[in-house]
Amino acid sequence: MKNFWHELAKPIFILAPMEDVTDTVLRRVIARYGKPAVFFTEFTNVEGMFSKGADRVLQRLRYTEEERPLVAQIWGTYPENFFKAAKKLIEMGFDGIDLNMGCPARGPVHRGACSGLINNRPLAKEIIDATKEGAAGIIPVSIKTRLGFRTIDFSWIRFVLEQQPAVLTVHLRTVSEMSKVPAHWDKMRTVVDIRNEMNSPTLVIGNGDIKSLSEARQKIEEAGADGAMVGRGIFDDPYLFAETTTINEKTPEEKMRLLLDHMHLWSETWGTRKHFPTLRKFFKVYANGFPGAQELRMQLMETESPEETEQVVATFLQDLASRGEIQEEGDHSLTLRSAYR
Ligand SMILES: Cc1cc2nc3c(=O)[nH]c(=O)nc-3n(C[C@H](O)[C@H](O)[C@H](O)COP(=O)(O)O)c2cc1C
Repeated sequence: MKNFWHELAKPIFILAPMEDVTDTVLRRVIARYGKPAVFFTEFTNVEGMFSKGADRVLQRLRYTEEERPLVAQIWGTYPENFFKAAKKLIEMGFDGIDLNMGCPARGPVHRGACSGLINNRPLAKEIIDATKEGAAGIIPVSIKTRLGFRTIDFSWIRFVLEQQPAVLTVHLRTVSEMSKVPAHWDKMRTVVDIRNEMNSPTLVIGNGDIKSLSEARQKIEEAGADGAMVGRGIFDDPYLFAETTTINEKTPEEKMRLLLDHMHLWSETWGTRKHFPTLRKFFKVYANGFPGAQELRMQLMETESPEETEQVVATFLQDLASRGEIQEEGDHSLTLRSAYR
């Protein structure tokens, strides 16, 4: 088998799968700023992949070579669809397949899928077996899950490891906890111990609340894990995986150019196939950390098209160019040049 996971240097840093966030555009943007070792797609429904609306579902699986190694994350209810999906994902050229057994969203859980599988081990096993059969040893199958459903349950972790996935990523919360409590990084050591006791070759990755590579390194070391997966941290710093720079080092002008580049890539890729408002969540990443950013952000959040966004940015940049500085409201009069260059 071509198991790319075993070729990666440790610790392994991964960008977490995030619905409506980590599409091909965001993955390319992040790859250019500072590339994680592995990317995951947004979770993709295996029933949808073979339905009438498959074209729409398959949008989630668009990618470019820049995003490799890339793992397709799938979810669903029927093992036979996982089997078919695995075959199709091989054809499509993915480097690996990940099974979502952690999403707490009511819809999927109600159908017994995603984190619902924590309460249905026979079905979880059937799904893992069917996916592995479809993957036919050609690409590796991994699993992303949580510490338990209502309570922390290491018998679930042991059960998953018994299925011998290539990788087990644990979002260090229970399903009931959603994202409302701090991730239980203190439990990652036990996950590692169970894996070691079992003499299992599965790589174990911790996930939850990490905001920087240095924090990731520290947590990985404390737990003895093989790596960490980071999601929401990229909203504070899309350069999170870069070793040498952060978004805070960028000037307001640079941030605006990055915003426009990001938006242009989005427009070129999606055109009218995705709703423009799905892009707006990224504006706050760039319109941040300088005087006037809040007002600019509010204007950007009201834009309805790339053209309108460009206009708002152009006005802001012209303002900077003509005045060379802008004043922050209140007592602190900071100039952009003196404070942020
Ligand atoms: C907007 C959003 C969408 C998400 N979508 C997925 C998903 O499709 N698949 C998945 O396994 N986890 C998904 N997650 C969970 C993340 O992958 C990750 O486990 C969680 O955010 C905790 O990590 P973090 O604190 O580094 O963000 C999502 C999280 C967010 C915030």
